[in-house]
Amino acid sequence: MPVTACIFDAYGTLFDVSAAAREAAAEPGNYPIAESWQRLAFDWRRKQLEYSWLRAITGEHKDFWQITADGLDWALDAQSLSGQPALRDRLLALYWNLSAYPEVPGMLSRLKQAGIATAILSNGSPDMLDAAVRSAGIEALLDDVLSVESVGIFKPAPQVYGLATTRFDCPPGAILFVSSNGWDIAGAAGFGFLTAWVNRAGEPPDRLGHPPHEELTDLTTIPDIAAAI
Ligand code: LAC
Repeated sequence: MPVTACIFDAYGTLFDVSAAAREAAAEPGNYPIAESWQRLAFDWRRKQLEYSWLRAITGEHKDFWQITADGLDWALDAQSLSGQPALRDRLLALYWNLSAYPEVPGMLSRLKQAGIATAILSNGSPDMLDAAVRSAGIEALLDDVLSVESVGIFKPAPQVYGLATTRFDCPPGAILFVSSNGWDIAGAAGFGFLTAWVNRAGEPPDRLGHPPHEELTDLTTIPDIAAAI
């Protein structure tokens, strides 16, 4: 029996988070990161995630756009680029309008054709998710976009995953959750979701228990997995 809903993480799963630094590095005006954009992208993402976990633990919540800017400021500082406001503005503008991975529209269309509900469940704030969904042109292929802002704490807090079971009025085992983040997969599987880990970079598995039910290198076969469960 197919799952009721297929729920996607956003950043790194549907949207390519390294695209912002990669594209800025290719623009002549942003020469300072031509050689180091991969390090910048890595540090930016790592600090963004660290700040989300730390703020969840301390209870000092800020929305994900603020955390994204704070992570970028750390990453720029690490390369002595804090005095480059035009570069900072350009990177944030590119992050606001990230493109989706190429297989995303076709994959979502196939899920819709199979009668499986689709949604995003993300740390992202509603306005940044809305911008990313629109710039990727996938708003008609999603039944909903669920943001942690409605519970005021980041993943992997269990109440975040509960937003999906409440929205689709189903038990956790009727949801296939898809993420590129191993820690997000562990949190979701611990909550009771079926899970598919999109491991594009061939990373080792996180040692958090709750291994993924499926491990993939891209999103292409998600509709087959969702239909076959
Ligand atoms: C998200 C982050 C974790 O979209 O990538 O929730």
